[in-house]
Amino acid sequence: MNAQLAVLERPVPALPAASPEVVVMKFGSSVLVDPADAPKVASDIYAEVRRGRRVVAVVSALAGETDRLLAEARALGLAHDNSLLPAYVVQGEERSAALVALACDRVGLSAATLTVRELGLVADGPCEHARPLSLDRAALDRALLKHEVVVVPGFGAVSPEGQVVLLGRGGSDLTALFLAAELELDSVQLVKDVDGLYDRDPNVHPDARRYDQASWAEAKALGGGLVQPDALDLAEARKLKVEVRNYLDGHRTVVGPVGAPPKPAPAHRRLRVAVAGCGVVGGGALARLLVDPRVEVVGVLVRDPSKPRDVPGASDAQLAPLLVSNPVALLERDPDLVLEALSEAKAGYDVIAAALSRGVYVATANKQAVSVDPDGLLELAARNDAKLLWSASVGGGVPMVEAVRAARDEAPVVAFEAVLNGTVNFMLARLGEGAAFDQALSEARAAGFAEEDPSSDLQGLDALAKVRLLSFEAFGVMPDDVAIHRDVLDPAALPPAGSRQLCRCELKDGKLVAAVRLVSGALDPLFAELKGEGNALKVISQDGSVVRRRGRGAGRWATAESLLADLSDLAAARLSKAV
Ligand code: NAP
Ligand code: HSE
Repeated sequence: MNAQLAVLERPVPALPAASPEVVVMKFGSSVLVDPADAPKVASDIYAEVRRGRRVVAVVSALAGETDRLLAEARALGLAHDNSLLPAYVVQGEERSAALVALACDRVGLSAATLTVRELGLVADGPCEHARPLSLDRAALDRALLKHEVVVVPGFGAVSPEGQVVLLGRGGSDLTALFLAAELELDSVQLVKDVDGLYDRDPNVHPDARRYDQASWAEAKALGGGLVQPDALDLAEARKLKVEVRNYLDGHRTVVGPVGAPPKPAPAHRRLRVAVAGCGVVGGGALARLLVDPRVEVVGVLVRDPSKPRDVPGASDAQLAPLLVSNPVALLERDPDLVLEALSEAKAGYDVIAAALSRGVYVATANKQAVSVDPDGLLELAARNDAKLLWSASVGGGVPMVEAVRAARDEAPVVAFEAVLNGTVNFMLARLGEGAAFDQALSEARAAGFAEEDPSSDLQGLDALAKVRLLSFEAFGVMPDDVAIHRDVLDPAALPPAGSRQLCRCELKDGKLVAAVRLVSGALDPLFAELKGEGNALKVISQDGSVVRRRGRGAGRWATAESLLADLSDLAAARLSKAV
């Protein structure tokens, strides 16, 4: 065994075991080409968080940034191995980390960053090609306790003497592998611009074959720079599986102890997506879809195609041929999938039902449309071999539907409590700060939190629809409407400072009792500390366990993210049906 492997194989330090829910993902500069790519990285992270995991995201510098920083430093004419150079170069990774954390925050994830020095990864050897030695987990564990996502710079480490050093070119792979090993995980995800490992370069050889599974040795022989060889040595020494995959389409190669012969690569057909609604939510989702190479947007349903549109990055000329005002015309464009974000309940219900009847998969943000008869819509979907997801209808970007489903899978749910309306929460905060009622309302509308008809927010009807949906998820049935009391937020009777609109639904003597109320006084900090458009959920199960979730409950990017995560799940479901 060589000296390097001896170092890599040293016993894992006796530190507290990592939560099994932690996942390490690495995003290289083939994915993070420029700042506009940060939202797609955040989407990938969001998908893991909504599966109930905490993410350590290891990032490289943006494309070309490391070379630029190296060139700037070397232009001073210093020796190649100047020991001060790494501290300058790792600013590229630290900048990416800050950018990705911002993109995560935009969609409502609780994110933190650590600098190279804070991360506590110690490495020794040449300052530009040092080898990882140890990890002081304290800072990472602390950050993971508090946040859903901890974004850390790859490539850099600190020498035993306290100087910043580099882990060699491609060193972010090594950072990710080492962190996963030290966190006692058994796998790590390397997110690249390719969908796995091929026997030849697929860009040069169209008949190249792709591995679903490869051994560490095969990966080293074939990698061609896809995974840093030192990182593969570490993976083998620490028995780590390495999932090499591209952004969000489910294709990957798992590099581990055993390989399997390569097969022809699966065909990549672009997903035909229709968007119903081009307002706050639909327009946000559309902006993301129009730059997504996996997707072809085939049509966009609106009331008035001549109205100006707020779709960042899209020109009028690009949008014009997509816009239709007739739902039949939308579905005649033959979409595989519809993203529904209409402001009208009946129009939304009709589009969803028509799409499902044609076997088209649907993801919707329209809680008023689906909360009337979720069972009926699911039956319609099943009859037509289609699928329907509504995560974005409740909690904006907070994966509340998934949280309730996960809790229910563990033990019967007995109750849930939640703040479910971003507009009301935002307005209560602004009123507490002294804003006038009309001003607070117009700010909530301008921010894109309020419904088209905001009386739905103010009268508790929006929250009521969400309680019905969460109850359907938690108990399989919805509460009797009559049993729901509503309190109205109106200028005539403003509630005391610190009030919250709290929803509660519980099973009492075999009956569901539900309420939407403005409450004040001592509140669970989960609710009391909610800011702005924040939403939060607490699910209580029969075995006493409690699941909590909190995040951005309304607004363009958080809600669009949730719709897009449903889209990814639906795309994966279509793919597995096709295989
Ligand atoms: P919005 O900004 O008012 O946009 C609504 C869109 O629906 C508009 O493009 C409108 O067309 C279109 N539309 C409405 N009725 C239609 C009809 N009959 N036929 C064709 N198009 C129609 O609303 P939004 O804030 O994006 O919300 C959309 C849905 O998402 C709502 O159901 C809402 O409850 C839900 N939601 C919103 C948020 C949020 O934070 N905003 C969060 C979660 C869920 P025109 O533009 O031509 O008028
Ligand atoms: N109007 C809703 C709210 C949008 O304010 O919560 C999110 O469903």
